[in-house]
Amino acid sequence: MVEGEGEEVTFREDGHAAVDWAADYLERIGELPVLAQVRPGEIRARLPESPPEQGEPFGAVLRDLDEVLLPGITHWQHPRFFAYFAVSAAEPGILAELLAATLNSVAILWRTAPAATELEVTALDWVAQLLGVPRDWHGHIEDTASTSTLAALVAARHATGRNVVVCSEHAHSSVEKDARMLGMELRKAPVDDAFRMLPDALGELDDVAAVVATVGTTSAASVDPVAAIADRCAAGGAWLHVDGAYAGSAMVCPELRWAFDGVERADSLVVNAHKWLFTPMDCSLLWTSRPDAFREAFSLVPEYLRTTDEAAFNISEYGPALGRRFRSLKLWAILRCYGAEGLRARIREATRLAELFEGWVRDEAGWELCAPRHFSLVCFRAEGSDEENEALLERANASGELFVSHTKLNGRYVLRLAVGNERTTEADVRRAWDVLRDLR
Ligand SMILES: Cc1ncc(COP(=O)(O)O)c(C=O)c1O
Repeated sequence: MVEGEGEEVTFREDGHAAVDWAADYLERIGELPVLAQVRPGEIRARLPESPPEQGEPFGAVLRDLDEVLLPGITHWQHPRFFAYFAVSAAEPGILAELLAATLNSVAILWRTAPAATELEVTALDWVAQLLGVPRDWHGHIEDTASTSTLAALVAARHATGRNVVVCSEHAHSSVEKDARMLGMELRKAPVDDAFRMLPDALGELDDVAAVVATVGTTSAASVDPVAAIADRCAAGGAWLHVDGAYAGSAMVCPELRWAFDGVERADSLVVNAHKWLFTPMDCSLLWTSRPDAFREAFSLVPEYLRTTDEAAFNISEYGPALGRRFRSLKLWAILRCYGAEGLRARIREATRLAELFEGWVRDEAGWELCAPRHFSLVCFRAEGSDEENEALLERANASGELFVSHTKLNGRYVLRLAVGNERTTEADVRRAWDVLRDLR
């Protein structure tokens, strides 16, 4: 980059070019193959082995983004990305990321980032209101649900003095990984025929630090009966952590709120704004009804971080990280630009499209639905063996037309179609269905 007077002009021009690139990309994304059509190592082989000795213009970065990297991008923003949990990085969030990087606020303490700290508290309070989370809970942002759950388990162990975690066999693998990292014992509870945790199978919970209930499991988007689990936790003195990483965002719609029944009795709750609240990765929202337990578990203020800011609130005392980036800016931008109405409309449209797809599968001979559908995930398979379904998935993804993923339910290979990208239209879902039927 040129130094001196020219620098501002260069930054502005490069910035315009970068925003043009982003706008062009989002306009043409539907024409690109959804799943990167490259082999492992192919992109690495195209990159220079060493960094340049002399700096290059930013235009060279944009050129290589197009020519070298783009073929190796799996397009999560594509309207026919239906794998895992489909997500969107909405435009206000994309722009806010640019601004957050520009400010580079590092919220190690309130005084190093008063606005970032207070906007985070406000944004979490706003989302709490939208989702029906009690407003007096403490909320802050972690990078991912894996970290949010890790933090909750740390607080639970600290508060209870116990070392056992219980979740259902359909809980996300992050629960098991977190327990393993913490050296905690994990017990898996069985589920019913709709993949919901069976509260009666939980036992006494007298030695259990935390039970993790899931609202919207990864495989099937099933909803554990949180209220009944809360009863068991209360009786056994166990911490209740609710994983609403995916489906939690759907609580903006009153007709879907039934799934949060009992969540108000939880000790902690995670909802990923980067999953279904249109926020660019990463932005995991973690609330707790027991902020003191978090603070006791995490607060460690060395001399160099002591300040005279009385009544200041340091979010770093409530979680594992010291340095925190300004993630609330993108969330706030989305809440402002979409409003509650815009969020509800998008969640409802994704759910409607999933329901439509579900109906096509139900009505077509030779296909079957494999789990009840509550939100925007459809679990289904074609008649035939697991191997035939797996081969179908591989053919569909290799076509570049769509990207779907799979799971196993009741020991059988099942295809998952998750709607969640805000650009997905009825025509996209129809095309996905046509491709799957044609390739069968
Ligand atoms: C229910 C659930 N919990 C947790 C996670 C982990 O999310 P993250 O990638 O933010 O750690 C996922 C990921 O898909 C999930 O579906």
